[in-house]
Amino acid sequence: QSLTIGLIPGDGIGVEVIPAAKEAILALGSDVPRPEFVDLVAGFECFTRHGTALPDETVRVLEEECDCAIFGAVSSPSRKVVGYSSPIVDLRKRLDLYANVRPVTSVATDPNQKPDVDLVVVRENTECLYVKQEELKYTENGKEARATRLITERASRRIGQMAFDIAKGRPRKHVTIIHKSNVLSVTDGLFRETVREIPTLAQFTGKYDDVEIAEQIVDSAVYRYLFREPQIYDVMVAPNLYGDILSDAAAALVGSLGLVPSVNAGDKFIMGEPVHGSAPDILGLNIANPLASIRSAALMLRFLGYVKGADRIDRAVDDVVREGVVLTPDLGGKGKTTEVVEAVLKKI
Ligand code: NAI
Ligand code: MG
Repeated sequence: QSLTIGLIPGDGIGVEVIPAAKEAILALGSDVPRPEFVDLVAGFECFTRHGTALPDETVRVLEEECDCAIFGAVSSPSRKVVGYSSPIVDLRKRLDLYANVRPVTSVATDPNQKPDVDLVVVRENTECLYVKQEELKYTENGKEARATRLITERASRRIGQMAFDIAKGRPRKHVTIIHKSNVLSVTDGLFRETVREIPTLAQFTGKYDDVEIAEQIVDSAVYRYLFREPQIYDVMVAPNLYGDILSDAAAALVGSLGLVPSVNAGDKFIMGEPVHGSAPDILGLNIANPLASIRSAALMLRFLGYVKGADRIDRAVDDVVREGVVLTPDLGGKGKTTEVVEAVLKKI
C-alpha cells in the first residue's frame, strides 16, 4: 500500500516551505503507508509561463492519481489581470473542497498544561463573495462596482455538519456560529439558521446532543472575545470571507501566520495548506517559517486517519517552539528555514 501525495508549492515562499512538509512525512517511516510524491504546478508564475494559473493536467493528476495533496501559496496580484484567476480558489471549487479547517493553537510552556488559545476556524470554502461575480459599470455618478454574495442551504449545512463533527471530537464540544445577520438577514440569516438547525435534524440519532451551540456577530466576536478572551472559543464556523479574516486574526494570537496550518476538505479529497500567503517581502532569505507547512502535513494525515503520524509531527513542532532555540525571525528567533526544518526532523 502507498500514499500518493501531490505537491503544489506555487509561488513565493511556497517553494521554500513545501519541501519541509515532504521531509516531515518521509521522516515518519512506517507510521504512514509508503509515501509517493508527485510535483505539480499552479500559481502566478505558472500563469505567466503557460497562460493558466491552474493547468488541467494538475487537476487531472490530483483527481486521478493522488490520495491527497499539499498546496503552498500563490502570488495573486491585487489588480485585475486579464485571464488570471486564483488557482487555490478554483481548486477548492473543482475538487469540491468545501471546508477550510484552520486550527489555531498556542504552544503551552509546560507540555502538561493546556494551551491558552485552542480554537478551530471552520470556514466555508466554496461560496460567499468568493464566487467572484463582480461587475463594473460606468454611471452618471462615476464608477459603480457590484459583487454577488452566494449563500446556499446545502453549503451551509455541510460546513455546519463539519463543524459539529469536529467539535464532537474535541474535549469542549462547543460550536460558535459567526455571522452578521443583524444586517445581512437574508444571506447571513440563511447561514445562521441552517447551522442552528443541524442538531435538530440529527435529533433522532442523538448525534450532536452533546455539542453546545452559541453564536456571535462577527465584529464583536473579534473585538470582545477573539482579542480579549480567546479561551472562550472551541470551534468557530463562518461563511467564507469572515472565516478568512478571522483565521488570520487568530493567527496573530499565537505569534505568527507562519505557525498556522489548514486543510481544505471535501468528502473525497484532502489538501493541506499553510494559512499564510506567498510572503514576497521575505522571499529568498531562507527565513520563512516552515512550521505552518509542516503542521499542514500533519493535519492532512490526521484527516486521512493517520493519527499516530500526525501526533508525532505535531509533538515535534511543539517541542521546537517550546524550547525556542531554533526559531525563524517571525517568532523572534535568528534561525534559518533550513535550521528549523532540521530541528523538527531530528525531533520526529
Ligand atoms: P502573506 O501571508 O503572504 O504575508 C503577510 C505577512 O506575514 C508578511 O509580512 C509575511 O512576511 C509574513 N509571513 C507570512 N508567512 C510567513 C512565514 N511562513 N514565515 C514568516 N513570515 C510569514 O500575505 P500578504 O503579504 O497579504 O500577501 C502576499 C501574497 O500572497 C499576495 O499575492 C496574496 O495574494 C497571496 N496570498 C495567497 C494566499 C494563498 O495562497 N492561499 C493566502 C494569502 C495571501
Ligand atoms: Mg487568508
